[in-house]
Amino acid sequence: MSAFQLTELGGPWSRRLDPRRRGFDLARPDEIARDLSEADRERGRWVWTQSAVSELASAAAFAEIASALVAAGAPIDLVAAAGEFVADEVVHAEVSGSLAMAFGGAVPLDVDLERLVRPPASVEPLMRAAELLVRTSCIGEALTLPLLKTAARASDHPALAEILANIARDEGPHAELGWWFLDWADDQLDDAARARLSAVATHAVSSFAPLFATTCAGSARGVGMLDCATYDAAFARALSERVAAPLAERGIALALTPCEP
Ligand SMILES: [Fe+2]
Ligand SMILES: [Fe+2]
Repeated sequence: MSAFQLTELGGPWSRRLDPRRRGFDLARPDEIARDLSEADRERGRWVWTQSAVSELASAAAFAEIASALVAAGAPIDLVAAAGEFVADEVVHAEVSGSLAMAFGGAVPLDVDLERLVRPPASVEPLMRAAELLVRTSCIGEALTLPLLKTAARASDHPALAEILANIARDEGPHAELGWWFLDWADDQLDDAARARLSAVATHAVSSFAPLFATTCAGSARGVGMLDCATYDAAFARALSERVAAPLAERGIALALTPCEP
């Protein structure tokens, strides 16, 4: 395990990301941090360092998903989308890192880069892809998207609101990929497969909820966090409308009592 840091080689490899950096003015984080209290800057360092880690974890997840989709014989445009999402998430990690630096520097975090993605337990390729997509896209991204939009609306700094809204702009398709995959795979998923995905989904919700909860605070809108009452309401609505309902439409039930998959 090593202290988390992001590095770039630069040159043509960094320039490849330029189209995806549109809307993320990396000079603006300084402008955002300028008027904040010392306590808010400190909170911002934690929030955005953790965000950089979770964005990098999302990049790793979509890289796994792209590979799993190939192995499952999925349509190649779904494969390509997952590959593109890796680059989106890398840019989000870069933006998060820039904000952490503007707030005073990244906090030291021990991150095991080999364990950023929970490996699927299934052996069969279609189910491996399904497990990864349900966890990452249908749940992780589907919950993140409305919380980001709410945080963008709640932010009292226009530059920060713009960054949050632009991250949300990218996360929309990330949250769609899983549903399109499940609909494509529908006639290949029997009752046992759907029961398995129900267990995966239930476990994912129970493990994501406390992680998401660290993104709320008493009042820290200046650094992009929601107050906890706003967060709780947005999370409950997202879970019900954007996760539980579309999963149920596909025969995948979220159990009220969390269980290990
Ligand atoms: Fe992201
Ligand atoms: Fe994403």
